[in-house]
Amino acid sequence: MRPMIPTRTLPADAASIQEAATILAAGGLVAFPTETVYGVGADALNPDAVARIFTAKGRPAEDPLIVHLAQLSDLPRVTKGYPAVVDHLAAHCWPGPLTLVLPRGPAVPYGVTAGRETVAVRIPAHPVARALIAAAGTPVAAPSANRFGHTSPTSAAHVLADLHGRIAMVLDGGPATLGVESTVLDLSGPIPTLLRPGGVSLETLRDLLGEVAVGGRAAPTGGQVAPGLLDRHYAPDNALHLCIGPDTACQAWLQQAARTQMAAGRRVGLLIPDEDVALFADLAVDIEPLGPASDPLAIAARLYAALRALDARQPDLILARDVGEAGIARAIRDRLTRAAATVHDGSEGVVF
Ligand code: TXA
Ligand code: MG
Repeated sequence: MRPMIPTRTLPADAASIQEAATILAAGGLVAFPTETVYGVGADALNPDAVARIFTAKGRPAEDPLIVHLAQLSDLPRVTKGYPAVVDHLAAHCWPGPLTLVLPRGPAVPYGVTAGRETVAVRIPAHPVARALIAAAGTPVAAPSANRFGHTSPTSAAHVLADLHGRIAMVLDGGPATLGVESTVLDLSGPIPTLLRPGGVSLETLRDLLGEVAVGGRAAPTGGQVAPGLLDRHYAPDNALHLCIGPDTACQAWLQQAARTQMAAGRRVGLLIPDEDVALFADLAVDIEPLGPASDPLAIAARLYAALRALDARQPDLILARDVGEAGIARAIRDRLTRAAATVHDGSEGVVF
């Protein structure tokens, strides 16, 4: 049996950041806050340390990790030359929620890149993340600090719920502000390609770069697919049914679905914008309001905590609707779609 590691949770002050850096430098695992979600980090240049991440998360080895740096001048430590456009992007988006897929430098173990000749890199904006990476003195490989397939953590408590006994330390820096993961942009091909929508919007990237292709989920039409992004992900334990369509159609669909399921004796959980709550006033449903539909940034910040909270109360099913695809709403739609067992557009009857 795998031995339990006593996991310590410490407030992210200077002394505990220093202690965490020492653990990283010695090949251990530390979870830390970033502006997107909490990550679980290891020394990216130490193959044994990197392997421990996969064990702790139960993550398949073919899903590559993001390497986190404290500053742009460290980029040559992990890449082998990179396109000039990186400097332009870095000037606007780093530190911040943008991950770039670049040619792998020889110092980066294949365990990090899952055997690929590319490496994903980002400079996080969170002061604790940056101080930790700088103090460790090494690039830090860090996926989101959840068990594989679970919702990403936006608080230290979420990290502990998934990884207690599997990592040495959690630095508690309070709730993550953005709440969804970084944007992953592949710069290794002829056209910059969005592999995962996130904190930096597609609109911003197109303003900065001109043409940006959209990859990620577009597998059936031959689009580029980020490794590890095809399967159901961010999944709640209880089946989630999602409506993506005009507001009024989805609201009507949600009401009908809730009534039908309740009539069949099922307990219904709802993940909906604030303005939808009144529509269910006469029904005994369990609601996690996400925030105003007009404020997708607020919804992104609450999304994972709401999903975890609802899931923990064990409804028989969860119904949700998205809030469009402008700016960060594209990332919300992406995560809800990955979490969903079924997706509807509101035009059909309720079938699942
Ligand atoms: O916001 C974030 O990005 C958080 C925080 C902790 O930084 N990290 C995060 O890591 O979300 P993770 O491992 O959960 O997601 C990393 C994504 C995966 O979808 C992976 O497939 C993709 O980045 N990725 C990593 N290396 C890649 C590569 N060489 N080529 C293409 N995609 C890559
Ligand atoms: Mg993840």
